[in-house]
Amino acid sequence: MASRILVPWALPEGGREVLKKSKLCVTYLHGPAGELPTLEQLIEAAKDADVVLPRGNQAVPREVLVANPALRGVANHGVGYDSIDVGSATELGIPVTNTPEILTETTADLAWGLLIATARKIPQTHNLTVSGRFTKPVGHPFMGMDISPGGSNRPKVLGIIGFGRIGRAVMRRSKGFRMKVIAYDPPLREIIEKTRGVEYRELQELLKESDFVTLHCPLTKETRHLIGKSELDLLKPTAVLINASRGPVVDEMALVSVLREKKIFGAGLDVYEKEPQLTPGLAELENVVLLPHIGSLTEDTRNQMAIVAAKNAVAMAKRKKPRNLVNPEVLNRQEYLQRVSDEPLQRPSHEVERDGGRTE
Ligand code: DGY
Repeated sequence: MASRILVPWALPEGGREVLKKSKLCVTYLHGPAGELPTLEQLIEAAKDADVVLPRGNQAVPREVLVANPALRGVANHGVGYDSIDVGSATELGIPVTNTPEILTETTADLAWGLLIATARKIPQTHNLTVSGRFTKPVGHPFMGMDISPGGSNRPKVLGIIGFGRIGRAVMRRSKGFRMKVIAYDPPLREIIEKTRGVEYRELQELLKESDFVTLHCPLTKETRHLIGKSELDLLKPTAVLINASRGPVVDEMALVSVLREKKIFGAGLDVYEKEPQLTPGLAELENVVLLPHIGSLTEDTRNQMAIVAAKNAVAMAKRKKPRNLVNPEVLNRQEYLQRVSDEPLQRPSHEVERDGGRTE
């Protein structure tokens, strides 16, 4: 049987090229405007798939993983893989890959854009200008917060939660603003302590001391609601909170009430707890900047991510060890060895059309 790769979304061109060159059987499943399939459609299509290549954030629950007992891999297009049931994948012997590094700088740029936009109320003042309300000098309520030392010449404190690749890229960009940088990430404490110009803080100390708090941790059971009501209560009244990591790291209901009561200056969010839904009340606030999860959304970066995800998918389809494994422990599992030691791979000799998808 020919090896089959299921791509349940509109993969960028670079990835499509890699898949085409592999000469494997590839099925694209999405609507004409790139609409994602429903979970039921995904499960149905996965019955014929040896490898699934989902879009970052596209849910791949256990039901998808068990749809085909011969499934040999999930190649995520994205660095975060919390939307994939990796625990089940490992137990079932299915390798899961991601696309680290490529999007680091792009996402750090966006986090900074969000930080500046929130601190200086850029979208709010843009709206004022284009709506014709710029008829006299602007003051309150559009007064911003300094990121640089400002008129008082006090260096501002940037608190980074999550000191992985993206957190470190955010730190590098802070140099131009002459900020004091503090960071919290217990597993990476040693790296923080060895990084010139950065001081380690426990979470509560970081929240109390920072002018800007920016979140860059993965979503795990330890980081879910890491920032809840009691943590938000520790922030300065002038603090700005930025989240370009994963929505559930913040208790969004608690955040809405802190913002509504103006207990902090503002928040800039690229991610949401129940994405794409927003917690009621969030969109009505005037002290927020809300983006639709665009951290890595640049043409170049998304295309490179597609190339990496496609290469990982091809490797797994060909029963080879892929790069960027997020569950390397899977390689020692009997279930994995079973999946890669099936009958020898055959090449497809024709192109097939599928309902609701296109097969190449
Ligand atoms: C990622 O790669 O994790 C981005 O957030 C896109 O999902």
